[in-house]
Amino acid sequence: MKILVTGGAGYIGSHTVVELQNEGYDVVVIDNLSNSCEKSIERVEKITGKKVPFYKCDILDREKLSEIMDKENFDACIHFAGLKAVGESVQKPWEYYENNIAGTLTLVDVMRKHNVKNIIFSSSATIYGDPAFIPITEECPKGVCTNPYGWTKSMLEQVLTDIQKADPEWNVILLRYFNPIGAHKSGTIGENPNGIPNNLMPYITQTAVGKRDHLTIFGNDYDTHDGTGVRDYIHVVDLARGHVKALAKIKEKAGLKIYNLGTGTGYSVLDIVKNFEEATGVKVPYEIGPRRPGDIATCYASAKKAYDELGWKAEYGIKEMCADSWNWQKNNPNGYED
Ligand code: NAD
Ligand code: UD1
Repeated sequence: MKILVTGGAGYIGSHTVVELQNEGYDVVVIDNLSNSCEKSIERVEKITGKKVPFYKCDILDREKLSEIMDKENFDACIHFAGLKAVGESVQKPWEYYENNIAGTLTLVDVMRKHNVKNIIFSSSATIYGDPAFIPITEECPKGVCTNPYGWTKSMLEQVLTDIQKADPEWNVILLRYFNPIGAHKSGTIGENPNGIPNNLMPYITQTAVGKRDHLTIFGNDYDTHDGTGVRDYIHVVDLARGHVKALAKIKEKAGLKIYNLGTGTGYSVLDIVKNFEEATGVKVPYEIGPRRPGDIATCYASAKKAYDELGWKAEYGIKEMCADSWNWQKNNPNGYED
């Protein structure tokens, strides 16, 4: 099976390419490198010992996409390409709607014209808003998003659902990721945020490596076991393997399917700091600050449906997630620039 991976030079995409190649899939990556660089692809090639055909291409570029699809004869697409910085999306909503929504509409149109009607889409737990219940099952109603990034995910889920409904030849799998952290065991690929990280784990690793002075914990007055926010952190390699399992569902011609990809366990910010320190032996200085607007107290998945229907469950525990995030950060203090 030949798989088009959009956004394959990015954090989750590069880890997924490794797992796909390990499972014997033919993989072709397209990426416009707006939030990544080709070095990640070279490093994937080193890990797997296989070539990764790569096209620098924007998913908004209909002509180039068409040329690539004429040439490559894909069976399915795993679609990671998108902008993902929550704060930036509030400042630049047009850019987010254009890139993520118009980009996906263009991609899907070119796919259908080439009779490629299998897609796995990167969605997010953010579509549940402030979740109606915990643990969050896939039946939990979609909620009110607090930023344009979240809306692009929510809207694209609807777009792909409607396209599948109108044309049952489509197989659409929506994967709702919880909080991916960690890195490949080799420590050669990992998350490489631009500027000051928004997300917790890169902020912790950059503090541990001395690039940031201290971590600010956004609020300790939530209704959680220690007052700090609780999330479902998942190792990026487990997440990547979830995509390989989802491809098997695509082969079964499953129509529309939705799965949470999480571990089913919630950890607070203070739990993460403690586990990080225990796993790495490195101290993380922190201060308590005010709540971050848009944050919720608790968010963790029920991972049962993915287990029952895909035979997938997360294997790595929190200590390994912390150790692997640190291994990547300390070997690559400046990301792919080293
Ligand atoms: P990332 O930024 O590392 O990877 C996304 C890749 O897409 C980048 O390499 C970027 O250059 C590329 N890209 C962006 N716009 C493009 C365009 N128009 N054409 C071609 N390439 C383009 O992000 P990631 O963390 O690997 O996330 C992958 C996907 O998963 C995204 O869709 C993201 O929204 C989604 N997601 C991520 C998280 C998370 O916490 N990392 C959580 C939920 C969902
Ligand atoms: C955020 C996004 C969400 C996105 C997800 C993955 C918001 C409101 N939500 O989720 O849309 O899908 O990232 O990219 O931005 N924290 C601190 N100090 C920090 C950073 C984070 O205390 O410096 C806390 C947060 O308050 C939260 C937890 O750590 O309780 C996790 O935060 P983060 O990594 O940003 O993920 P989410 O908020 O779950």
